[in-house]
Amino acid sequence: MFRTKTCGELRLANVGESVTLSGWVQRTRKMGGMTFADLRDRYGITQLVFDESTDAALCEQANRLGREWVIQVVGEVSERQSKNQNLPTGDIEIIVRQLVVLNESAVPPFTIEEQSDGGDDLRMKYRYLDLRRPCVRKNLELRHKFAFEVRRYLDQQGFMEIETPVLVNSTPEGARDFVVPSRMNPGQFYALPQSPQTLKQLLMVAGMDRYFQIVKCFRDEDLRADRQPEFTQIDCEMSFVEQEDILQMFEGMSRHLFKTILNIDIPTLPRMTWADAMKYYGSDKPDTRFDMKFVELMDVLKGTGEFSVFNEAEYIGGICCEGQAVYTRKQLDQLTDFVRRPQIGAKGLVYARVGEDGTLKSSVDKFYSPEVLENLKNAMQAKPGDLILIISGPDTLKARKQLCELRLEMGSRMGLRPKDKFSCLWVIDFPMYEWSDEEQRLMAMHHPFTSPKPEDIPLLDTDPASVRANAYDMVINGVEVGGGSIRIHDAKLQQKIFEILGFTPEQAQQKFGFLMNAFKYGAPPHGGLAYGLDRFVSLFAQLDSIRDCIAFPKNNSGRDVMLDAPGFIDQSQLDELCLQIDLPKE
Ligand code: AMO
Repeated sequence: MFRTKTCGELRLANVGESVTLSGWVQRTRKMGGMTFADLRDRYGITQLVFDESTDAALCEQANRLGREWVIQVVGEVSERQSKNQNLPTGDIEIIVRQLVVLNESAVPPFTIEEQSDGGDDLRMKYRYLDLRRPCVRKNLELRHKFAFEVRRYLDQQGFMEIETPVLVNSTPEGARDFVVPSRMNPGQFYALPQSPQTLKQLLMVAGMDRYFQIVKCFRDEDLRADRQPEFTQIDCEMSFVEQEDILQMFEGMSRHLFKTILNIDIPTLPRMTWADAMKYYGSDKPDTRFDMKFVELMDVLKGTGEFSVFNEAEYIGGICCEGQAVYTRKQLDQLTDFVRRPQIGAKGLVYARVGEDGTLKSSVDKFYSPEVLENLKNAMQAKPGDLILIISGPDTLKARKQLCELRLEMGSRMGLRPKDKFSCLWVIDFPMYEWSDEEQRLMAMHHPFTSPKPEDIPLLDTDPASVRANAYDMVINGVEVGGGSIRIHDAKLQQKIFEILGFTPEQAQQKFGFLMNAFKYGAPPHGGLAYGLDRFVSLFAQLDSIRDCIAFPKNNSGRDVMLDAPGFIDQSQLDELCLQIDLPKE
């Protein structure tokens, strides 16, 4: 037997027992005639003691142990003289009688402890060593528990987990596809699914009623902290439901997850329309851990003074930062630089401090009468000691997004976004379409299978851009953790939506014929949603990036630096696939 106990379970109650442990040597230290070693496995760390005076040869053997060697020891559990309060096993140690080296280890490229000296790249290259660190392993344990509780909840609610294929067809709309050449069908390609959207709808036509799948999805898009090219969805679909049924079901799932995993009781999720989210937070995924809502100031500041920037603006909005009038000129200049960064793109920032006597001092005082400034203070409901920050611009959407970034920045600076506080909500009533400057046409905001709100259907002919969808997102702490919609189950309406999206009937038939044909055979009313598992878990684990809860993630260039993927393939493989590669010259 390699072990009778793990390195995480021995306590004072075990003192006197003879045990066998196996694990990795985290470190050794020699103190006089004693050698101590920390033995680590998945479950914890246990201190080993080798005493020269009782067994010199054994101690000699222990002194040769290197970091990360794999060993097995037999010994007796003993109470420690100096206890370590930071370790669950800190009250005991093992007086080792026997030591077997199971495997030696090369010197690891970084220290494998909570605080590692390894940089990001190095740790990713040796991810299997990084994963030995308890802080990283802990995230995978949480992920496992999360997925387990998802399955438990959905199973209890009658959902069936069904696998859908990974080699599917490329579909337009959405992100770029990853494609796979087919040897047996020269010149043809599969695509990896961006989500099992159409397949789960076909499962509803097939009468499966309640489907879910914890499933890998693939999207060839630019990467960010909350995006990976392959990520995992908790993908769900239900038949004979309305939006309300879905919101209730999945609010229930979130409640179950918060309770079982974090022991947090979450309140009923507030619902905010997309229009309000944009108006008050400049984002369809507002961080509602803190208030600081936008106040529109067009009435107050446009045309009421000589400030041409505001007079020409399409949007003027402000936020009131409580107690921040202490901001110095230098700090305000830094904030101005922040909003001027190309990623944010504002032209500038106007500020106003409310003094302790209630008077307002702003960077645009000379353009406005005291009366207008008083109106500004009132509109912002600013109190003595508050700081008002104002952004304006010729494009409402862009200016709101800039103000959103500023609000988040101020929220962070003011300590209003603690990771252990959770604020969940539903954002509902998304528009059906959004205008794409790049494509110069309307694009589906969610996806082309989303149903318009019945009352907005007549607008499809007259003003499609104003049509609202039966679509919803779940947002937690400013992160879109999930989203879905009620689907179109009528072939004719689906055809019309494709038309508005610019598909000819032939193109629609070619790309989505399989779905529209299926709809001819009795498609039930249905709807669903998908959560981003990585995002949800990383919120629970309070991580900065979803990478930290993925065992083997890709870096920001989409590379797996450990496997060195993607890589080139042999000419013979290319030939077999009838592929010719013409690399662009440097
Ligand atoms: P959507 O595209 O909104 O909807 O995706 C659902 C959820 O998946 C997560 N997500 C991602 N997570 C990590 N990396 C990515 N690149 C990434 N892209 C998306 C997000 C998002 O909320 N088929 C629909 C769902 C439906 O209508 O049922 C869909 O895929 O958390």
